[in-house]
Amino acid sequence: PIHQREYLLNGEMRQWDGPVSEVYSPICIPAADGTLQRKLVGSFPVTGPDEAVEALEAAVAAYDNGRGEWPTMSVADRIKCMETFIGKMLEQKKLVVNLIMWEIGKNLADATKEFDRTVKYIYDTIDALKDIDRSSSRFRIEEGIIGQIRRSPMGVVLAMGPFNYPLNETYTTLIPSILMGNTILFKTPKHGSLLHYPLLEAFRSSFPKGVVNSLYGRGANVIPPVMKSGKINVLTLIGSSRVADELQRQHPKLNRLRSIMSLDAKNAAIILPNADLDVAVKECLLGTLSFNGQRCTAIKIIWVHSSVADEFLKRFSPEVSKLQPGMPWDAGVQITPLPEPTKPGYLADCIREAEAGGAAVMNEGGGLASESLVKPAVVYPVKAGMKLYREEQFGPVIPVVPFDTIEQPIDYIITADYGQQVSIFGTDTDQIAELIDPLVNQVCRVNINAQCQRGPDTFPFTGRKDSAEGTLSVEDALRSFSIRTVVATKD
Ligand code: G3H
Repeated sequence: PIHQREYLLNGEMRQWDGPVSEVYSPICIPAADGTLQRKLVGSFPVTGPDEAVEALEAAVAAYDNGRGEWPTMSVADRIKCMETFIGKMLEQKKLVVNLIMWEIGKNLADATKEFDRTVKYIYDTIDALKDIDRSSSRFRIEEGIIGQIRRSPMGVVLAMGPFNYPLNETYTTLIPSILMGNTILFKTPKHGSLLHYPLLEAFRSSFPKGVVNSLYGRGANVIPPVMKSGKINVLTLIGSSRVADELQRQHPKLNRLRSIMSLDAKNAAIILPNADLDVAVKECLLGTLSFNGQRCTAIKIIWVHSSVADEFLKRFSPEVSKLQPGMPWDAGVQITPLPEPTKPGYLADCIREAEAGGAAVMNEGGGLASESLVKPAVVYPVKAGMKLYREEQFGPVIPVVPFDTIEQPIDYIITADYGQQVSIFGTDTDQIAELIDPLVNQVCRVNINAQCQRGPDTFPFTGRKDSAEGTLSVEDALRSFSIRTVVATKD
């Protein structure tokens, strides 16, 4: 086990001898008495409001109202610091990948992919920053004024990431914030916290003091003093819409706070009568069950035209049952233990409620395999009013709804609280073309004959309604964590 007793504050690894939180893996292994028990992975500091305020003051001092070493450093020098960081990050790859696997149960292939994708994301962000910097050295002459349009930092950023991509998603907010010259406080997620520990020293030794500061412990203790101070200029969260509302409410001047968030989603797939069902099955399988459905971008409900519903289910359900459950390090394992302890019970409730309303589990073997391992279930026909119809289940249970007219799934999407993505499956290109315009006014990505997903990371990543605020991904994130400024000279 890794017992973390330090954290990064104001350029130092601060020692901690206060309370700690033990980290238990979702992976259960046989104990001496033969029972299966969650394995202890380690522990991390539970710091409190005093440490949080100290971290805030360190970030505020490092920014120094825009006069600090970091916000005034040239883009080229900031990039050099980031390149140093990447070198040190790569040295920790094996340990970080292992911790992703043990802390959140992501399989080895996907945990490795998460690390590599993050490194690529940093390189892509550096390239995009070079472009932005090049364009800000140009001058524009209009109406007798010569203008130089630049991108300048915003100030102090509070960044919080989720458990499902604890490294990648935390870094897709952290890295562009740092590169744009802001100073940062970042709070590690409850599940997926220890894996950040091996990288703290890399931050410490790559950037000036106070540029990156870590926050550990219970969000309810460490976040309110920071938000209530009014000294946070940008709040960035990848997590739940409920937490986003709570955090924003704590800021005394909400109109002065910029929020960049990626939140809840209930992405729908729509399978039209003329769809190529082999394509629909393959993409829906990936879309619904990659990392056990624990992706904000997952397909979380499938609408299938009644004329092909039986055939779709006949092909889709056995494929779902074939996905191999097991331990994340075993080759070929696709379904792994769930890190949220209450999730298996919640999913079981959703299934029970749907069954009581006349739906059934359509595949063999759906349900609980052990305390934390849930074998995926396809539930059909799900109806309005059931939890699975509107709630974001964020787990391996797939609601399927039949429809007769295209207005039914479209109305569902229009009346939803969320608006992230949709997938349409069909072979009639004219019909699909007609659906695109109404759908892009409801969601922020329409996938044609393909699953919902965030990548490639150079595409804008956002959503409507309660699904997002601001835009992430490479170039957009650099814009989100900076402000356009103008140096204007009369010609
Ligand atoms: O949880 C949301 C992630 O950004 C999803 O990324 O679609 O590439 O798996 P992904």
